[in-house]
Amino acid sequence: MKDRIAELKKEIEDYLIDGEDSLEQFRIAYLSKKGQISVLFDGFRNVPPEAKRDTGQLLNDLKQFAAEKYSGNKERLSMTEMVQSSVDLTMPAYPFAEGTRHPISIVRNEIIDIFSRIGFTVSEGPEIEDDNHVFTMLNFASDHPARDMQDTFFIEKKSGTESDPHDVLLRTHTSSVQVRVMENEKPPIRTISPGRVFRNEAVSARAHCIFHQVEGLYVAENVSFADLKQTLLYFATELFGKDVRIRLRPSFFPFTEPSAEMDISCNICGGKGCNVCKGTGWLELLGCGMVDPNVLEACGIDPVKYTGYAFGMGIERATMLKYGVNDLRLYFENDIRFLNQFRTEIL
Ligand code: DAH
Repeated sequence: MKDRIAELKKEIEDYLIDGEDSLEQFRIAYLSKKGQISVLFDGFRNVPPEAKRDTGQLLNDLKQFAAEKYSGNKERLSMTEMVQSSVDLTMPAYPFAEGTRHPISIVRNEIIDIFSRIGFTVSEGPEIEDDNHVFTMLNFASDHPARDMQDTFFIEKKSGTESDPHDVLLRTHTSSVQVRVMENEKPPIRTISPGRVFRNEAVSARAHCIFHQVEGLYVAENVSFADLKQTLLYFATELFGKDVRIRLRPSFFPFTEPSAEMDISCNICGGKGCNVCKGTGWLELLGCGMVDPNVLEACGIDPVKYTGYAFGMGIERATMLKYGVNDLRLYFENDIRFLNQFRTEIL
């Protein structure tokens, strides 16, 4: 009996089902009441009792094997029939519009990628902030013009009572995330913070009331200005190509001392001077400096033991320089003729 089962199994396996007719013949030959498997089941009663268990199992397997082959082929044939009758596979497909990433997302992701390769984490903070995190703890004097309604969108003006002293506002820069990170973490801290910022500006080709920044912060023992410079050079060459040069100019920010602004060599003219760089050969990219000891102290970090550097840049600005976009408004208009031009491998 076992030999016969094996033989039949091989036969079923080899059976070619290539249409409705052979499918029906297969069913009659093996699965019908008078089919070969039924014949074997009929003979089962003559199997000696000690072999019944094994043989019964083999027989059941055989039956299942044949039934599965039958139903699988039946389904396949009915699908083929359906496809053949209703779909012309030679027709051209409908044109699907393929989406692209927004240029700001592309450049933000690239910046994150560049810094994560040298150990920077990503941290985020709230867009609706208080003046303490946006200004006071960052060492802004109480009469600093950025605190003025002209520059900042205030949500709720508070009169500065002892119990609840903070105005609620939309953050004007991502430097506020520095403060939040330093309040909550112990050095060494090495992080970047991308995000949206808001300023009370009339919208034009060169200014917008919403834009994006990335803040960078490194606080540890013995962090020096040389570390900052080297990190920024690495960053600029990764984002703009190995031929780019950088230059640091002294500047002022309340939260860094000393402070600088970094320019990159003009990637349009290569530094010779053109109308994009206004003949100077340089394009301004970001602000940076050594974290002011007052800021470290306000955030509960010992300014004697630790030093740090910080930098901040506009993502729209970096994107403009990288792709030669000359009008900020293009980023917000969602015109697909503009957006379609940005394709990238980076997700
Ligand atoms: N927060 C500054 C701005 O919005 C940019 C900036 C400058 C950030 C210097 C920094 C820095 O961290 O060190 O213009």
